[in-house]
Amino acid sequence: MIIGVPKEIMHGENRVAATPETVQKFVNDGHTVLVEKGAGVGSFFMDEAYAAAGATMVDNAQDLYDQAALVLKVKEPLFNEAYQKHEVDMMHAGQFLITFIHPASPVNHEMVKKMAANGIIGLTCDGVPRISRAQKMDALTSMSTCAGYRGIIMAAEKLAKFIPMTTCAVGTMKPANVLVIGVGVAGMQALATAKRLGARLYAADIRDMACENATSLGAKIVDLGIPDSVSVGEGGYALHLSDEWLAKEHEALKDVVKDMDIIFLSALVPGKLAPILITDEMVKSMAPGSVIVDIAIDQGGNCEITTPGIEDVKHGVVIEGIKNIPGFLPTSSTWMYAKNVYELATHLIKNDTVELDMNDPIDASILVCRDGKLVHKGALEAMGLL
Ligand code: NAI
Repeated sequence: MIIGVPKEIMHGENRVAATPETVQKFVNDGHTVLVEKGAGVGSFFMDEAYAAAGATMVDNAQDLYDQAALVLKVKEPLFNEAYQKHEVDMMHAGQFLITFIHPASPVNHEMVKKMAANGIIGLTCDGVPRISRAQKMDALTSMSTCAGYRGIIMAAEKLAKFIPMTTCAVGTMKPANVLVIGVGVAGMQALATAKRLGARLYAADIRDMACENATSLGAKIVDLGIPDSVSVGEGGYALHLSDEWLAKEHEALKDVVKDMDIIFLSALVPGKLAPILITDEMVKSMAPGSVIVDIAIDQGGNCEITTPGIEDVKHGVVIEGIKNIPGFLPTSSTWMYAKNVYELATHLIKNDTVELDMNDPIDASILVCRDGKLVHKGALEAMGLL
């Protein structure tokens, strides 16, 4: 199969969908890999290394899109300023695309409709289910690991204080208080990173199992008073809380939030908008110079006043709403992502083409559109078409 790896065009996106290592694997599997020149520079994978691994380096992105049967990307298709064309229009009918599409997110609705209309077969990495067979393909987990680590490092850079307890001739400074709300993959990594920096750890989650995991890292649990019977659904996943239970959660968090130096927000129910857990009033109650990192921003954010996509200061508190945190750790995140994409692609490629088996939960849950039709349930629901 001819596989194309273009350079990412989102502003500040340093990642790329293949490394020289995965290119070599694809080539060894009998495929031809086209890589756009400079595609790996942002993550420090150089053209020479791709060429040595067997890639054909391509100057022009349009040539790459014209030739490839399968395109591997990191971010959803966007308008390409250099070519004055949307990436969807650079693609052609029958072409397969593997990338993060986030099809349910309202900002992508027009784009995915266009993708369907143009006959592209869209396969989204955020659809890979968290089942053991799919672990190696689970880019969402990889990226959450990156966001948990890098998000805390960002907070540490912004915080106007030491994180560890620090003693000097004039006295002792207490360790910083770090609260993580939503202790899934990203939250656990955030706690582990804050622990390494010497912070005092606090954690809140609506699942007892998540709280137990946080305790194992030494975190003090904020009792939200929400029983598993209302917060945990099938397969152990969190459920979206009713307004009544959310109000109870706000009450429990209110008293804790004001004493925190860093709050890391990673609470999410898959496929839903992120719940608002930190209100404007709560931010006001925090000490000036404190930091909030709201990594749930792609799904609307967990803090009421996070500005999407940027860092902002409100009520003297730094609020980080950066969307592509893994892009700030480009070599590691690219290394992980490229391996996940290689595993996913090799799972899908049979007889030199992508063959989808709708009885396979992996294939069924990553498919966004094909045969001119949008089929992704979350996207259709979000558009009010289901
Ligand atoms: P996860 O599903 O592993 O964890 C989410 C946790 O939130 C679960 O433990 C769940 O029980 C908890 N939760 C749900 N509702 C809650 C509530 N009302 N109160 C407290 N806890 C609640 O998800 P994962 O992989 O850790 O991702 C977390 C978020 O990070 C997602 O929104 C994801 O899209 C985002 N993310 C953002 C990145 C960025 O660059 N901004 C990169 C990677 C992930």
